[in-house]
Amino acid sequence: MRYAEITGWGKCMPPATLTNDDLSTIMDTSDEWIFSRTGMKERRISHVNADELAYVAAARAIAAAGLEVNDIDGILFGSMTPTTLMPNCSSYVQKRLGNKVAACMDLNSACCSFLYAISTATSLIQAGVMNKVVVIGAEKLSWFLDWTNRNVSVLFGDGAGAVVLEATSEPVGVLSSKLGCYGDMRDTLATDNFGSGANRGLDSYAHISWEFDGQEIFKRATRGMVLATQGALADANVDVEEVDWVIPHQANRRIIEAVAKRMNIDMDRVAITVDRYANTSAATIPVTLTEILEQKRIQPYDKIVMPAFGAGLTWGAAYLRWGARVEPIAEAAVELPPCDKTALELIEPLLEINRRHKVVVSA
Ligand code: ACO
Repeated sequence: MRYAEITGWGKCMPPATLTNDDLSTIMDTSDEWIFSRTGMKERRISHVNADELAYVAAARAIAAAGLEVNDIDGILFGSMTPTTLMPNCSSYVQKRLGNKVAACMDLNSACCSFLYAISTATSLIQAGVMNKVVVIGAEKLSWFLDWTNRNVSVLFGDGAGAVVLEATSEPVGVLSSKLGCYGDMRDTLATDNFGSGANRGLDSYAHISWEFDGQEIFKRATRGMVLATQGALADANVDVEEVDWVIPHQANRRIIEAVAKRMNIDMDRVAITVDRYANTSAATIPVTLTEILEQKRIQPYDKIVMPAFGAGLTWGAAYLRWGARVEPIAEAAVELPPCDKTALELIEPLLEINRRHKVVVSA
């Protein structure tokens, strides 16, 4: 029987940090409101595109696995903010890595993209189609937020995380997945003007509006994540008490606490990064996984569950068993180009587009 062990991991968080106090200088909000509702203190704003963040995270994951770039025969790029739709962004990562042999696939299930991608990659390895695959979650959400909409813009950040999966005969890696979608609820979290249905008149194309029903999403997210976690654990014949780590999608600390409470899981077994990075959509799980490995909190053969939900409303969970190695083999000498702007300076032109749109609409 073939399995797909995680042998490498890496993240790339852009340096510019946007705090709640920064946000309160451009909209009617406060650190108190944001932190008490979401557990978020700050988020990162990227000065480069999502595909470049993805390349750096992927290079770091490949080094951690101790592999050469041409050992990789598959690149899966999970994102809802790909830099280009055509060509896809996994081919950008391949080119930047200097890889000549990998199949390249982009996948979008919003915040569940990494979860869907790691489940897909595991299946491709188990089927014998691929042997060594990089799975990436990367987003530049700051680019398409409406910075005049406080309901939505405070919740998100930019970043990327990646893992390397390698075929093995040892029963480790993702051992069960439950994936699904509440398609009837797809309008509770939606954007207009973003995709081939967009109005291509220049001004309106620049501005993207968000439809968002936070409380409805909150309820469905909690339900979907609990059901998916229970399903994935049941399929693997694992009791919830045996789980060493929950690495959930980081949309809101209160959603994570509600899921943990319903599952009877102590918060000290739940990994949290939402305070520092907010919701980076597809990137939250690989970034959080990388952080707790860097903090040496994962032990060999730990049992880990990763629940998520996202626009769609997609939901899911994967149960995985870690392998023997918890230290990286090597580090990549790859960095982002320097950033000479503050986070507020980076979003200023975007905010200007949103403001202009409001003036046009209300005229
Ligand atoms: N600052 C100040 N006030 C705000 C802000 C803000 N940033 N945002 C909203 N408010 C106001 C609203 O205008 C509203 O005011 P009103 O009552 O006068 O109309 C009020 O705050 C709403 O407050 P609450 O009902 O207490 O807000 P709630 O506790 O529901 O928290 C939140 C809102 C954080 C959005 C929550 O519902 C949530 O986390 N939902 C799910 C998160 C989510 O969906 N994330 C994205 C999905 S992931 C993906 O795939 C993209």
